[in-house]
Amino acid sequence: MSYAKDEIVLKAQGLKIHYHTQKGYVRAVDGIDLFVRKGETIGVVGESGCGKSTFGQGILKLLPAKTKYEGELLVGTTNVIPLDEKEMKKVRGKIVGMIFQDPMTSLNPIVKVEKLFHETLKEHEPNISMEISRERTARILEKVGIEPERMREYPFQFSGGMRQRVMIALALVLNPDIVIADEPTTSLDVIVQAQILELLDELRRSYNTSVILITHDLGVVAQMADRIAVMYAGQIVEQNIKNKIYYQPKHPYTKLLLKSIPNTNPKDLQLNFIPGSPPSLLDVPPGCRFASRCPFKMTVCEKEPPVFEIDEGQVKC
Ligand SMILES: Nc1ncnc2c1ncn2[C@@H]1O[C@H](COP(=O)(O)OP(=O)(O)O)[C@@H](O)[C@H]1O
Ligand SMILES: [Mg+2]
Repeated sequence: MSYAKDEIVLKAQGLKIHYHTQKGYVRAVDGIDLFVRKGETIGVVGESGCGKSTFGQGILKLLPAKTKYEGELLVGTTNVIPLDEKEMKKVRGKIVGMIFQDPMTSLNPIVKVEKLFHETLKEHEPNISMEISRERTARILEKVGIEPERMREYPFQFSGGMRQRVMIALALVLNPDIVIADEPTTSLDVIVQAQILELLDELRRSYNTSVILITHDLGVVAQMADRIAVMYAGQIVEQNIKNKIYYQPKHPYTKLLLKSIPNTNPKDLQLNFIPGSPPSLLDVPPGCRFASRCPFKMTVCEKEPPVFEIDEGQVKC
């Protein structure tokens, strides 16, 4: 699809994604409102278990069969919630690409790189020849800094950083409008991490792709995101342009999350963490889900916390 600059390419409204389990529904995503513009990077941050990956994979409906989706999720102008598997296949890879945390488990290690690309291309262009497929693979591998000849190798022959480059190339080979990168650098050392983020940002600019960057690491989004959505217990508690999140955070959870970033200042080497733990998503409390850990808690927080609009975003507090 072609978009005008700044046009909205993805919009979630009241999105809920609940896992079916024997104990009941796990409300992993529980009423998310978020939009993504063409060419921008949205950082989705929050502690482990707050629903970030569920949101990312839910966009492509890659979750277990009994998962319940509610609300609206517009990819372009199509609400994907009612779409079946066959229709979702047209969205996956072609409109929305995905980069996972650990390429070793998501790239089949015993399938040659050229075949991985050929299979992906064939999903959307069934008649594509191996020759054309190799040409396109060579072009995208070059873009991510891998010698095209290496397409004859297997993923296990690549280093961690190189494998993540292959994964990025695979997510971009169909030139999707949106790429979801779920903890793309978590398994890499800091130097390679910085190189991969730089590469992702460079590719985003050159293809004008929108990126949803999911991470528990506020340092990662600081480098790349235009706007940030802070998730807590299945909800977005605050979203805003990056600098506002870093320098004028409004929600107590955002403030505490920022304080818990490790720093290298020798005068302040104490590692801050947020006491307590998030509520179970099987049985979430009414009111603000952060209330039990919040140092600024008021009586109203346990009932209906106020929601207010700020700049480019919203705070639910
Ligand atoms: N397949 C599943 N079935 C049931 N619950 C799940 C499943 N996958 C994840 N969850 C639960 O959903 C919540 C959100 O998980 P996840 O989206 O992986 O969080 P994050 O990516 O932020 O760490 C967690 O409580 C997790 O235990
Ligand atoms: Mg995750």
